[in-house]
Parts: sequence; C-alpha cells; structure tokens
Amino acid sequence: MNYFSPEPKKRKEDFFDMEYEWSALDRALKKGKMVVVTGLRRYGKTSLIMTYMNESRKKYVYLNCRLLPSVVSLNSFRALLEEELTKNSWGIRLLRSLKSAEVQLGGFGLKVGRKGEESILRTLKALEGSVLVIDEAQTLRMSAYRFDSLLAYIFDTTDVKLIISGSEVGLLYRFLRLEDPEAPLYGRTYSEVRLNPLSRDKAKEFLILGLEQENMVVDERVIEDALENLDGVIGWLTYFGYSLATGGLSHEKIYEKASILAVDELKKALKLYGAGEPRYSEALKITATLGSATWTELKTGIEARLGKITDSTLSNLLRNLKDSGFIRKDEGKYTLTDPILRRGILTHL
Ligand SMILES: Nc1ncnc2c1ncn2[C@@H]1O[C@H](COP(=O)(O)OP(=O)(O)OP(=O)(O)O)[C@@H](O)[C@H]1O
Ligand SMILES: [Mg+2]
Repeated sequence: MNYFSPEPKKRKEDFFDMEYEWSALDRALKKGKMVVVTGLRRYGKTSLIMTYMNESRKKYVYLNCRLLPSVVSLNSFRALLEEELTKNSWGIRLLRSLKSAEVQLGGFGLKVGRKGEESILRTLKALEGSVLVIDEAQTLRMSAYRFDSLLAYIFDTTDVKLIISGSEVGLLYRFLRLEDPEAPLYGRTYSEVRLNPLSRDKAKEFLILGLEQENMVVDERVIEDALENLDGVIGWLTYFGYSLATGGLSHEKIYEKASILAVDELKKALKLYGAGEPRYSEALKITATLGSATWTELKTGIEARLGKITDSTLSNLLRNLKDSGFIRKDEGKYTLTDPILRRGILTHL
C-alpha cells in the first residue's frame, strides 16, 4: 500500500506530491535556522517533514511531543530525546560519548534539577549540524519548565536547525511567543510553512491514484461524494481510501467511523477545561447545528442550557477553541473547521 497507508509517510513513493510546501520547507531550512510547520489536524505535516528529512539525507531527530505526559517535565522530554537517539547508529554513538564524558566529570556539584538541565543542554549541543524536529510542540507549554527558553538556547548557541510543528496552531504560537518582546524567542528569524487542505482537483487526483495503486475501480459517484464530505483533508482522504481498500465498508459507514474517531479526540482535548468542559461542548454543538454561529447565538444558546456566561468567559472559550483548531471565525461567524468533526459532534457529542 502506498498513498493509503495510514501511518505518517516517510518514503517519497508513498508521498503524494505537495510541491509547493516541499520547496517552501526546503528553502526555509537552507536559508534559516528555524521553521514552523503549521496546519490543522491531518493536513499532512508529519508526513511532509519526515519524507523531506529522509529524502534530504540530513541527520535529524524527530520528537513527537504527543507521546509526552499531559504536564511535561524536563526529564520526560530528555527521556524522549534519548529514546529517539537510540533509534539510529549515530545517535547511539553520540549518547555513548556523552555518557562516558559524564562519568569522567563525576559529581560536579550541581543540584539534581540543574544536573538534568546540564545534561540535556550537553546532548543538544552534541547535535551540532543536525536538525531537531519537535512535532506537536504546543504541548510543551504545559510545563513548569520554560521550554521556550530551551529553544532560544538551541537557536542562539548551537548550529542545530529547528523544525517546530503543531496542529493546534494558535496554541503553538501562544507557546512560542515569537512576536512578544518579553519572550525568550522574540526577534529570532523563522519561516512558516503552512499546510492547507488539497484543492478539489488535487484531492480527486489523490483518490484516483491511490485507488489505482490498490487495483480498485470505484464508481465516480463514490469519489465525488467523498470529495464533498472530506473537504480536501489528506488524512481523511487516506482514511477513506484505506477503509475502502481493506474494510469493504460503505462510504456512509466510513464517514461515520471517522466522525467517531474525531469526536473521541475532541473529547480528550476538552478534558483540559475541567469544570468548564460542558460549555465548550455546548458551544461546539451550537456551531455544528447552525453550520455557522454568531457570538450572540452562541451566548444565548449556552445560557439557555447552562446558565449565565460572562462575555469574557465566552470570548476566552472561543479563543481556546479557535487556537486549538476546532473552529474558525469568518466574517463574524464561527464554523467548524473539519466537516467530519462536525458530523461527529451532531451525533456523538
Ligand atoms: N503527502 C501525502 N501523501 C500521502 N499520504 C499522506 C500525505 N500527507 C499525509 N498523508 C496521510 O494522511 C494522514 C495524516 O498525515 P500526517 O499524520 O502526516 O498529518 P498531520 O498533519 O501530521 O496530522 P496530525 O495533526 O494528526 O498529527 C496519514 O494517514 C498520512 O499517511
Ligand atoms: Mg502529525
């Protein structure tokens, strides 16, 4: 299986060409030290980064911060970094040389916390000349440790290049605070590579080529229906193709399964808001039901079910939903960004 294999792509032959984003990433990495790759869920960020890195044959370390606990400690970050390094021979060599240097240095009188930091800084320094990919980096904001300072340290004192990516784009920028004069990363030059859904023509081409790879012939109407329902999101198109090729499910059933998956992810994300969660759910249900909702519709709707909500609480809630990528605001109205999630909210939230 090529295009429709479900995991993030790593090989050029499985990767449906994203020429524009590919060359943007190439230019950005050649020109500068820091690239921010953004795009909502399932737009293909990880696949673009991994395939590009493998193809370019540069040394790189890929950190998937989704694997970290919900509150991130420096130690869990270090464990992830070390685990990734052990996946290739140069990483193992690097860790070995660092460990033996550490033993020789012995107890150099640092307190435990500082020692952890010293050790990670040494590892990062030793990555000289390679690329550090930090995927889903917005999760690093949930920490007592200032990971933005760590990134600034890497930027300022090493020749390690950084690719920072995340699907919760607003939260990612809230973490990086690149435009905030008070923040450690302020003033550092960076480029953004932004991924968007495929155009209708490209999405069609992707489905047709993927089906050809599976030797499948599908009624034109099924393809048109999928294009209508999946909105050019490459992850959903892949899911659809994979399910057609392997499951023998009807297209309606596939949308249904996908929407349950999307709602499960949403529910997990909303847990973050604790006691405030019912209001978030209500705001999403109203938006999904109306298709697009105004501020007043949202306020009235939430109050009708859950009692008074102040303007500042509502604006905070909408900002969080927007920065997490669940909704967008267009011409004063809020809409769901993902048609499959909308379907899921209508039936399963
Ligand atoms: N260019 C591509 N060619 C073929 N398949 C792709 C491509 N980009 C993404 N996919 C497929 O789409 C799905 C989502 O891709 P990927 O995980 O790279 O996206 P993402 O933006 O990192 O998603 P998330 O935000 O969930 O981490 C995967 O099944 C992947 O195999
Ligand atoms: Mg990803």
